[in-house]
Order: sequence, then C-alpha cells, then structure tokens
Amino acid sequence: MSPQLFNVRLKNHDRNYECSSNDSVLEGGLRHGLAMHYECSNGTCGACKAKLVNGEINQIKHHDFALSDEEKSDGDFLMCCNSPASDVELELDLIGDVQSIPIQNIETKVKKIVFMNDDLAIITLRTPRSKTLQFMAGQDVELSFKDVTSRYPLASCPCHGMELEFHVRNSPEDVFATALFSKKIKNKSMVDLEGPKGVFVLKELSKKSMVFIAWDIGFAPIRSLVEHAFSLEMDNPVYFYWAYPSDEQAPYLDNHAKSWQAVMNDYTYSPIACEFDRSSKNECHKVAKQIFNALDLEVVKRSDVYLCVPAEVLIYLGELLLENGLDESQLIASPI
Ligand code: FES
Repeated sequence: MSPQLFNVRLKNHDRNYECSSNDSVLEGGLRHGLAMHYECSNGTCGACKAKLVNGEINQIKHHDFALSDEEKSDGDFLMCCNSPASDVELELDLIGDVQSIPIQNIETKVKKIVFMNDDLAIITLRTPRSKTLQFMAGQDVELSFKDVTSRYPLASCPCHGMELEFHVRNSPEDVFATALFSKKIKNKSMVDLEGPKGVFVLKELSKKSMVFIAWDIGFAPIRSLVEHAFSLEMDNPVYFYWAYPSDEQAPYLDNHAKSWQAVMNDYTYSPIACEFDRSSKNECHKVAKQIFNALDLEVVKRSDVYLCVPAEVLIYLGELLLENGLDESQLIASPI
C-alpha cells in the first residue's frame, strides 16, 4: 500500500506538521524542524513520550517497555515507535531553549573526511544509532581525539542527529585540526563529542526578515540555521552574505549556498570577496568595513542579523551595525 500523509497537530503548541504513514511521528516532527525530545530512536530511553489526544497510531517498533502500563492506558506512547494511521492530535513538551538540552557525551566514529584543499576539511561524524545528538541549529560541540580537544559549530541540521558535519580550517593553534590535517584522524577513527554548547540559535517566532553574515567557515552554523529555518517552513525573507578571501575563486560551498534559491521563495545570496593580509590581525577592521560596505543597510535595519565571523571582526562589524541603526536585540552573534 502506498504511504499516506496525515496531519499531526501539537495541541499544546498550536503547531501542525504532515507525517507519512511510513515515518514515525518523531521522524516526521524532526524533519519539520520541531525541537522534539528524543535520544535512542528505538524505544528504549522513553525520552520521546507523547500523549495521543485524538486519532489513531500504528506501532512500527515493538519496544515500548520504557512506558508503564498506567502511562499506556493514559494515552502515552513513544513517538519513535509509532506512525500516524489517521490525522492525530498530540500533547508533548518541545525543547523550549538551549538550557533545557542536557550536555551529552557521545563516542562517535568518523564517517567521511573531504579535504576541500590543503587547508580546509569537511568531516562527518556518525553517532551510534541508539545515541543521537540532541541540539539546536547553530550550536557548538567539543570534539576530542586522544588528548586533543577543539570546539566547532555543527554544520548540520538537528533533523539529522546521527550524522554530524563540521568545517575545519587548518590552523597551528587548533590542535584537533592539526591531528586531522596530519592524517592522524582518519575514516573510522573514534572521536569523543561533548555538547551541545552555545546560544547562537534561531529566533523561531520572529516575523522579521533574516540576514545571515558569515566569514569563511562561519558558514557552518549559518548553514545549520538556514536549513533549520527551511525545515520549519519559516517564510521570512532570507539574505545571506558570505565573505571570503579574495585569493580564492569563490566561497568553498558556493553552489550549496546558491542551491537554496531553489527551495526558498524569498532568498538573496551575496558573496563578498575580501582583500586582506591573512597574517595580520590588524586587518580585521578592514575586513569588517568591506563586509559592512556590501550590506543593504535598509534590509539590515529591519531584520534579525545573525553574524558568524572571527571575534576581532565581530567587534568592528557589530559596532558599525549598531552605530548605523541596528538595535542590539536584532543582533545574534557568534565568533568563530
Ligand atoms: S527516542 Fe528513545 S524511546 Fe523514543
């Protein structure tokens, strides 16, 4: 029988999403960007408990011993083990803020490393099936390999808690990057993850347009945020400014940034080639000025502005934005 689409209504949050009869209620919700509580995805932890208020569900995994008989007779069920069999109405708690997500320690395995060039790598880690990472788009984690640890923003969307992507620039001060570029970290290496950390997250209820400004690998958390906004079906206009060193032809995932055009109705992408001397920290104000000059200030002033640039650039650029009419409440920033 071909799958059917059903409406899932979250009664206590006034939210709806469509879920296929082939997907668990949890998978459908995560795919639509909802911050649902979950951990194992296989019926053992009980974290994804919800109450069925109306409608029918179909058990697709037979592990519901995380629930007591009393909870079951009260309408409680595990979202990872059941798919909708009709339109349904549920009651459940969503993750309200970053503080309510516990710090998790997960032993991951390197699934893939792509060296984009001599000095930039994209690494994908895989969590065990029974221990996916719960996080909000835009957050960071600490990665440890043997005795080295570094902190990176997640480039992936929370709807894929089992496959986690990070963008790493080779830098002598970054010990994890050094291990990666010297090939000590390779496919199937074990990497310990601790997180999530940080508060660089999306203002999901805001109706303002969204301006995202990234410098180089600041693209990683911006990608997580933009793709999360897309799965939430937010229709706020999106403007993405991606600053990159002018000695490179284009930003390293230029085509990916362009491809958002196909899935978002109101999306504008502007790469900004910046000329500067990489070896000089004194050039930061110059980079900030180049980025600032490329912005459409009228758009910026009426938007929430998400800024992910080096700390030194952030100071100058933040000042320029605030001096030119942006209110502090509109600025959401994270240094890389
Ligand atoms: S996520 Fe663990 S029981 Fe559903």
